[in-house]
Amino acid sequence: MADAKPFYWEDRPEPVAPEVFTIEGGRPLSGTVPISGAKNAALKLMAAATLTGERCRFTNVPEIEDVRVMAETLRDLGVVVDHPEPNVYEVASGDVEWLFVPLEAAAKMRASFMLLGPLLSRFGRVIISNPGGDRIGRRPVDLHVDAMRAMGAQIDYRNGYFFATAPGRLRGSEVRFPTVTVMGTENAILAATLAEGHSVIRPAAREPETDDLIAFLRKMGADVERTYADTIEVNGKRRLRGAEHAVIPDRIEAGTFVVAAAVTGGTVRLERAPCDHLGAFLEIAERVGVGITCGTDTIDVDGTPLLDGGYRAADVETAPYPGLATDLQPPTGVLLSQATGTSNVHETIFEDRLEWLGELRKMGADVRLIDEHHAAIAGPSRLSGAEVEIGDLRAGASLMLAALAATGTTTIHGAHHVHRGYENIQRKFQDLGARIERRAEGTPVTTS
Ligand code: EPU
Repeated sequence: MADAKPFYWEDRPEPVAPEVFTIEGGRPLSGTVPISGAKNAALKLMAAATLTGERCRFTNVPEIEDVRVMAETLRDLGVVVDHPEPNVYEVASGDVEWLFVPLEAAAKMRASFMLLGPLLSRFGRVIISNPGGDRIGRRPVDLHVDAMRAMGAQIDYRNGYFFATAPGRLRGSEVRFPTVTVMGTENAILAATLAEGHSVIRPAAREPETDDLIAFLRKMGADVERTYADTIEVNGKRRLRGAEHAVIPDRIEAGTFVVAAAVTGGTVRLERAPCDHLGAFLEIAERVGVGITCGTDTIDVDGTPLLDGGYRAADVETAPYPGLATDLQPPTGVLLSQATGTSNVHETIFEDRLEWLGELRKMGADVRLIDEHHAAIAGPSRLSGAEVEIGDLRAGASLMLAALAATGTTTIHGAHHVHRGYENIQRKFQDLGARIERRAEGTPVTTS
C-alpha cells in the first residue's frame, strides 16, 4: 500500500446535477415522520448478494442516490438488479461478466469498495478502484486490503486500482484491525463466508448495520456469529443461497429528525424509529433538555423546552458504536448551537468532519474551530438565513436543520449531496410544516 496515492474529491466528476434548497425557517415542525431503511445497511446487503448466484430480495431499501449507484455498479458487472416496486430491490448474481469495479463507481460512492471481499472470495479475482478520500477525511482502505491479504489474497496496487487474486480459495484466518473500521470489518466478514476454514475478526465493528449484515448472511446459510461484543467468527462455506431481508431503520436519519423537532421548538413523532440504536445520541439530547419518549418503534420528540427555559450545553465526543456516531456529530452541533453555554465537540473518527461548522458560522452560530478534531460551540445563537454550501450529506442535512431553526431564508448550494443518503428529505420536512423549495443550480426560485 505504500505506493497507494489516493485522489481526492475535488478530482472527481460531480455525482449528480447540482441542486439548491431554499428554506424559509423559524416555524416549529410538528406531526409524524416515517423513518426509512438504513443506507449503511442496504449498501452492504446489496454487495453481500454477489456471494451467491441465487436471487436475493431486499425490502425497506431507502430510495436514495447511493442505492441507485450501487444498483448501477452491480448491473455494470453483469448482475441482474430489479427494482419491482418502491423500496424493494432484487439482486441475482448468476452471471457476473466483469470482475472490474471502475473509477466511475468508486468516485461516486466509497461503499463500492464493499465489492472487494465478496467478489474476491467467490470468483478468486477482482480489479477494483481505490475510492480515495472525500470531504470528511482521508479515509484510506489499507485495512480492507490487509484483511484480504491475511486471508491469502495477493493484491497489487497500480494506477489507482487494486488487482486482487486469491489462488485457490481464500483461507480463513485471524484478522486483527489496529482500529475499529466499519466497512473493513464488513468486507472481512463477506470474504470469510466463502473462505476455507475459520476466521476471527477483531476488534470488529459493533454497528447495528454490521449486525444486520450478519443476520442476512445467516439467512444465506453463512456460519457467522458475533461471539463477543468486539469479535466476529466465521466458518467458511462452499456455497451460499439466496435469501430475503428487510433493511433495519436508519438511525442517522432518525437522529436528524430528532434535532429538527428540537431546534424548531416542535413536537414530532418518528415512526419505525430505532430507539435501541440511538442510545448515546438520545442520552445527549436528553442531557441538553430535549424531551424524548421511546415507544416500541416510535420516538416522540418534544422540542418545546427550547422556548421554555432553553437547552443546556454539553461536551460531546464521537466514537465507534455504541458511542455517539460521527454521522450524528453535525446534527448534534446544530442542537448545541441552541443551548446555553459552551459545548466542546471532539470528533475522533474523521479529520475534516468539523469543517462544515464554518458554514454554520455564516448563519450566526458562535463556533470556534480549535483543530481538525476539536471545536467549541457557544450558545444560544440566533441563527439567521444565509447563503451556504454543503460538501457531504451529513453536513448538508445539518445545514437544513440550521435553516429550519433560523429566521429568514437560507439558500443551500450543493443540496444534491443530501439525496445520496436521505430518502425524500424535502417532502418529509414539508409534511412536518417546513417551507422548502428545491431547484436545479442556476435556475430561478419559483414560489410554491
Ligand atoms: N480507516 C483507515 N483505513 C481503512 C479503513 C478505515 O485508516 O482501511 C480509518 C478511517 O480513515 C477512519 C476510521 O478508520 O478514521 C474509521 O473509519 P471506518 O472504516 O469505520 O469508516 P467507513 O467504514 O469507511 C462507515 C460509514 C460512514 C461512517 C463511518 C464511521 C458506510 C457506507 N459508511 O464508513 O458513513 O461515518 O463508518 O461510523 O457504512 C455516512 O453515512 O455519511 C458515512 C460517512
